[in-house]
Amino acid sequence: MANNVRPETMERITTQELAQAFIDEQITALRKQIGTKKVLLALSGGVDSSVVAALLIKAVGKQLVCVHVNHGLLRKGEPEQVIKVFRDEMNANLIYVDAVDRFLDKLAGVAEPEMKRKVIGAEFIRVFEEEARKLDGIEFLAQGTIYPDILESGPVKAHHNVGGLPEDLKFELVEPLKFLFKDEVRVVGKTLGLPDNMVYRQPFPGPGLGVRCTGAITRDRLEAVRESDAIVRDEFANAGLASKVWQYFTIVPDYKSTGVKDGKRSYEWPVVLRAVNTKDAMSATIEEIPYDVLKKITSRIITEVKGVNRVLYDITPKPTGTIEWE
Ligand code: XMP
Repeated sequence: MANNVRPETMERITTQELAQAFIDEQITALRKQIGTKKVLLALSGGVDSSVVAALLIKAVGKQLVCVHVNHGLLRKGEPEQVIKVFRDEMNANLIYVDAVDRFLDKLAGVAEPEMKRKVIGAEFIRVFEEEARKLDGIEFLAQGTIYPDILESGPVKAHHNVGGLPEDLKFELVEPLKFLFKDEVRVVGKTLGLPDNMVYRQPFPGPGLGVRCTGAITRDRLEAVRESDAIVRDEFANAGLASKVWQYFTIVPDYKSTGVKDGKRSYEWPVVLRAVNTKDAMSATIEEIPYDVLKKITSRIITEVKGVNRVLYDITPKPTGTIEWE
C-alpha cells in the first residue's frame, strides 16, 4: 500500500523556487519509477491533469501518452487549447479523441441529473478503455490526484481517477501531485510554463456543461450554454473579475418564455448567470457584479447567442441553492 499521508516535513510550495525543487525531485522519482516503460494519462485540460502531463513530459517525454477525450461538454476553445499547448508547444504524444457524437447520442433523452452523470462517467471509461487497448506496452496510469482528493475533505466531486477500468487494464498508478494542495499545484504548473488561463482557471465539474444544460441535453441548447459561458468568461476577464470570483458560468434551462425579436414574438430559452464565492464549495455567497458588467453580458448574450431571448442573474446563496443547477 502506498503511503497516502503528506510528510510532516514537507514544506508548503508557495514560490517558484520551491516549486522548482519539487519538480526536480519528482523528475528523478518519476524516471526511477517508470524507467523506459510507457505511461497513459487522461488529459482533460483541467489544472491537475495538465500539471501532471507537463511534469511527465519533462521526466519521460514521449513515453507519456496523453489521451484527450472531447465529450462535447467542454467549454469553448478547451480542446483546441489542449492540442495547442501539449501537442504543438510541448511536443507531447497526444491522442485526441472526438467522441462528441457518441456522448451526445448516449445522453439523448436522459433528463435525470444523476443519470446524466452516470452516462457521462461510464462512456468516458469506455472511450478511454478503447484507446488504452489500441496501445502496446503501457504499464503505468498517471492521475492528477491531489491531496484533498485523498483526504476526501472537499465536496468538489473531482473526477481524477479512471477507476472502473476492467481488471486486465489495471496499470500501476503514477500520482506525482498526491501530496499537493490546489494552490501548490498552481505554482508548480506556472513554474512548468503552463499558460495562466490553464493554471488559474475556475473549477469545472467532471460532467462539464452537461449539468448546465438542464434536463435532457440537446445540441442546440448545449451550444447556447457554451456560447453564453464564453461571453461571461470574456466579460469577467475584461472587467478584472476573473480572479476575484471563485466560479462563474451560465445555465440554460429546458424551458422557454416569450419575447420580442425583430418586431416579432419569440419563444426562446433564458440564460441564467451564476457567479459565486466560496472557500470550500460547501456554502457560497453571491458576488456583487457591477451593473454595467451585467448589462454588457446581457446585451452580448441576447444578440450573439442563438435561441435565447432573456438573461437572468441567480442571486441565491448556497444554501439554499447549490452552485450548479443540477
Ligand atoms: P454544488 O452544485 O454541489 O457544487 O454546490 C459544488 C462544487 O462541485 C462542483 N460539482 C461537480 N464537480 N463532478 C465534479 O467534478 C460533478 O458531478 C459535480 N457536481 C458539482 C461544482 O461545479 C462546484 O464547484
